[in-house]
Amino acid sequence: MAEAGRGGAGASSEGRLHQGPENHKSGSAGSGGGREGMGLMPASRCPFRRLRAARSALALRALVSFGLVLMLAVGLCSEPVAAGDDPIQAVADRQAEMDRMAKAMQVIGRFLKNEGATVAEVGVSAGTIRAVAVRLVSDLFPEGTEIGVGGSAARPELWRQWDVFGQYAANLSATAGRLAAVAATGDAGAMRAPMIAVVRACGACHELFRQKKP
Ligand code: HEC
Repeated sequence: MAEAGRGGAGASSEGRLHQGPENHKSGSAGSGGGREGMGLMPASRCPFRRLRAARSALALRALVSFGLVLMLAVGLCSEPVAAGDDPIQAVADRQAEMDRMAKAMQVIGRFLKNEGATVAEVGVSAGTIRAVAVRLVSDLFPEGTEIGVGGSAARPELWRQWDVFGQYAANLSATAGRLAAVAATGDAGAMRAPMIAVVRACGACHELFRQKKP
């Protein structure tokens, strides 16, 4: 299905690309067979092509929104990953990923405090956070890795309220995505709000699901 959609889109943009040169050719062809072409081509082929382009654009749009709905449904209905062979390693791995996000947050903090981080560095950091955020639900929190396993500080409620956990994770990936987008525009002044949103997205989930240090 995705294949067909892509084929359609390709064909339509090709059609549009070819339209110019072809019109040009038939215009400059002069006499004889060229005249026949001039009479037929613009009247019959071009509108048809335009129609086809419009149709496949619509089909593509339908396909994309279907994909989004599907992703959303899968995201919301997903279950935690089953316990792996080595839960202690799984805890260590995800803590390393959290630490990676914390390092990225330090860059954002430096920018907020005017301590030298650049817009481009904030953009990279936002990308790192987003990449980890999308893995929170898909693989970083397998079942059987709560407090008591290795050095885990993940409260058991996390798995009982998996949908809520998923919403906080999605919120982080959305806010980090927005920050990356703003950073890409290079507009330093517009970055404060999305940066603070990212900071809050971390804290909100920790508040609920991470055991506080004694
Ligand atoms: C959806 C929930 C959620 C979000 C969002 C989240 N975290 Fe966490 N984080 C946790 C949980 C749960 C733990 C405890 C994990 C453990 O101990 O195994 C944790 C642990 C950590 C740790 C401690 C890791 C260690 O070495 O023990 C750091 C640092 C951290 N998070 C940073 C961040 C930063 C920075 C962000 C935002 C950019 C963030 N987290 C966003 C849930 C979240």
